[in-house]
Amino acid sequence: MGENILVIEDDAAFREMLVEALTAKGFETQCAGSVEEGLQRLGEAPFDLVLTDVMLPGKSGIEAISLIRDMAPATDVIVMTGYSTREKALEAVRRGAYDFFSKPFSLTELEIVIRRAVERRGLRAELASLRTRLRTARGAPAIVGQSEGMRRVVELIHRVAGLDTTVLVTGESGTGKEVVSDAVHALSKRATGPFVKVNCAAIPENLLESELFGHEKGAFTGALALKKGKFELAQGGSLMLDELGDMPLFLQPKLLRAVEQKQIERVGGARPIDIDIRIIAATNQELPQLVAEKKFRADLYYRLSVAVIRIPPLRERKEDLPLLVEHFLSRINVKLGLDLRGVTREAMGLLYAHDWPGNVRQLANVLERAAIMSTGEVLEAEHFRDAFQARPRAAGQGDCLPGAAEAGGGHVASLRQTLEDVERSMIESALAKKDGVQKDAAALLGISPKNLWNKLQKHGIDPARFSGQVA
Ligand SMILES: Nc1ncnc2c1ncn2[C@@H]1O[C@H](COP(=O)(O)OP(=O)(O)OP(=O)(O)O)[C@@H](O)[C@H]1O
Ligand SMILES: [Mg+2]
Repeated sequence: MGENILVIEDDAAFREMLVEALTAKGFETQCAGSVEEGLQRLGEAPFDLVLTDVMLPGKSGIEAISLIRDMAPATDVIVMTGYSTREKALEAVRRGAYDFFSKPFSLTELEIVIRRAVERRGLRAELASLRTRLRTARGAPAIVGQSEGMRRVVELIHRVAGLDTTVLVTGESGTGKEVVSDAVHALSKRATGPFVKVNCAAIPENLLESELFGHEKGAFTGALALKKGKFELAQGGSLMLDELGDMPLFLQPKLLRAVEQKQIERVGGARPIDIDIRIIAATNQELPQLVAEKKFRADLYYRLSVAVIRIPPLRERKEDLPLLVEHFLSRINVKLGLDLRGVTREAMGLLYAHDWPGNVRQLANVLERAAIMSTGEVLEAEHFRDAFQARPRAAGQGDCLPGAAEAGGGHVASLRQTLEDVERSMIESALAKKDGVQKDAAALLGISPKNLWNKLQKHGIDPARFSGQVA
């Protein structure tokens, strides 16, 4: 196991007993007799878990929670309360303790609580590493989004990428089907092979067959030379069939054969060619419905939908907006040579109120238009009103005007956003009161200077702005 646990307990006999029991269970255990001593230990070495008593000489175990959080945010705290201190236990949880339990307790009980915490830490670490692996994988695009829905997408990509099965990516227009397909390929064993993409909707039906399967010289008028199709060009790699729903019915049997038998035939060709590719199909259409309408073959649909990754529309995961805005603003900064830092709260309210029929692509477009309208470093609501009012660039891109009733409805912002906003304005007012001196502002806010520093980075607040402002 090897997790590091720090026990803070003033009763020497009980402390020894705990250390002995935990060590016997395979945990690396250290101990301290007070919160002060415990903090010193935490400063010396990292711990996965702190197990602390409440009633201690000097600072209490409850006070310790926030101090530990500031010093070692990755360390979980479990509080052991004496009997009849339910309020204390509740306060502990409110202050960020991971768990608590009441004395007297059995060692089995203690072990269960610790194992549970350890397990959760494992899950958390796995998710974090999944995310960074996804970001750092060779050529894999960053998939921005922390919402439940996007986390599921990211997990699924990872699970499916290595399996070499056919993958079907579905989602409304602009939700990120191509980004997800790119990630599947980039994280697969085929990453070093080619990734060939065909947009089935963009190629005229009569040309699609030879585009996909190639043709022999002289196969038809105009076939002056042998031409390899996309299937052959993707040998050893992946083939993305984008807008699969637009695959004409007459080509579907040939596609089915390619998928089932891993063989294709060039147009006018006399012999089958073995293919070693993985197919990643994408569509914004409801294939089951197309099947019901006899516009898509059921057998092909079942073959292609072995693994399905459904990307939720942006309106169902608006909590991703702040991260996406940040992501696109930095892209826009590079593209347009700007130095945009963010959007005002009012503007963010506007973004939350919008329905985003064109999803992430629409958001990227709206931000770019707003950026063009802006003059300062921060995008304001008025810039967005203009951005929303711009006509869609192309039909079907899904850009729409926000309804008059929804515009400016900041109250629909998510709880997290609201909390972040509150945090930001508290920090700003503390800095203003303390003349921009971070140490003093941190003391006023009751957090450590290091914690304040982290929050300044997170919010992009420059404390220098507040010096010389004392009223
Ligand atoms: N989660 C995301 N993180 C970062 N960028 C994203 C994300 N989702 C989409 N994008 C960006 O939004 C734009 C649209 O994404 P993409 O082309 O993958 O959508 P799509 O689902 O294939 O759309 P369509 O159905 O219109 O083809 C791209 O610029 C892409 O980089
Ligand atoms: Mg696409």
